[in-house]
Amino acid sequence: MRVLGIETSCDETAVAIVNGRGEKLIVEKNHVFSQIDTHAEYGGVIPEVAAREHHLAIFSLIKDVLKLKKEDFDAIAVTSGPGLAPALRTGVETAKALSFAWNKPLIGVSHMEGHIYANWLEEKRLKSILKKNPKLPLLALLVSGGHTELVLMKDHGEFTRLGETIDDAAGEAFDKVAKMLGLPYPGGPQIAKLAKGGDGRAFDFPRGLIDKNNLDFSFSGLKTSVLYTLRKNEDKLEDPLFRSNIAASFEEAVVDVLVRKTEKAIKEHSPKSLVIAGGVSANKELRKRMAKLAKETGVKFSMPMFKYSLDNAAMIAAAGYFRLRAGESSVVLDLKSDSNLDFCL
Ligand code: KG4
Ligand code: ZN
Repeated sequence: MRVLGIETSCDETAVAIVNGRGEKLIVEKNHVFSQIDTHAEYGGVIPEVAAREHHLAIFSLIKDVLKLKKEDFDAIAVTSGPGLAPALRTGVETAKALSFAWNKPLIGVSHMEGHIYANWLEEKRLKSILKKNPKLPLLALLVSGGHTELVLMKDHGEFTRLGETIDDAAGEAFDKVAKMLGLPYPGGPQIAKLAKGGDGRAFDFPRGLIDKNNLDFSFSGLKTSVLYTLRKNEDKLEDPLFRSNIAASFEEAVVDVLVRKTEKAIKEHSPKSLVIAGGVSANKELRKRMAKLAKETGVKFSMPMFKYSLDNAAMIAAAGYFRLRAGESSVVLDLKSDSNLDFCL
């Protein structure tokens, strides 16, 4: 079954084709146009600018796909939320038009569900490496610019949110701390790079909600603590070692909380697999620590290929494929816009 995926929830315009058989999903095309350079000027994503950029990019991305015959597709999957409403609309309207013209089912997919399914994606040229899919039930740590959640997936399409952030998302905290240090958007990769030369124990930053008997997260106290430390040390703001120590200690605090809450969730819910997903799952320190946690707790560990950690449409096609396989047919799309838009400026 071949599914066309479209993703425009934030600042990446993406179109992909995924071919699925049973539990095997091969990515045949994966186009991503990043708007990062446009938004970097403003230090964050501006929804209306994102929508305009999606409009400009989507047809050139889809041109390649339109060369194929409509008989080559079985369905179209599109991100219907959460995300920025004006940005989402571009993808949804394009998908609706194609579905109407081709008379193919249209499946609306949650962006976060897509991130989880990124763990099923394979590429043809890597066929020789036997990829093993995650086993169900799985525990997913979803960490992106707008979300930080622990989700239990008992079966395909069966998701329970066990905990989430009560304020900032992990990626948002990375972006804001980067901004404090004068680093460009998106801040996650910048902080990770700066942290490499630093000591993660140089500053003892707070670990929000760590002793609370729940699976929720909080990163706003950590962000404020970094801000106060920078204000107290204004004379060192240009000192490379000081900057690296701040970045490393901040990264250590975020990763520490994510690992400890995930460990608690594993103990409470005994999943067969642990997966990480969302943009922050590209963080090498987090990948390393989660792999270690999985080994210690005896669960199978999966992380997406690096390029599928970040926003893409192959993951949306993958989620759509599993929904189709479960018998879901065309849906009337209702935009599920996110009220938590403060990560965008
Ligand atoms: O999933 P994603 O691409 O978009 C959203 O759905 O939000 O995630 C983007 C987030 C940004 O906050 C970015 O700073 C963060 O992922 N990120 C990272 C890294 N790469 C991207 N955070 C930490 N370390 C990284 N290497
Ligand atoms: Zn995302």
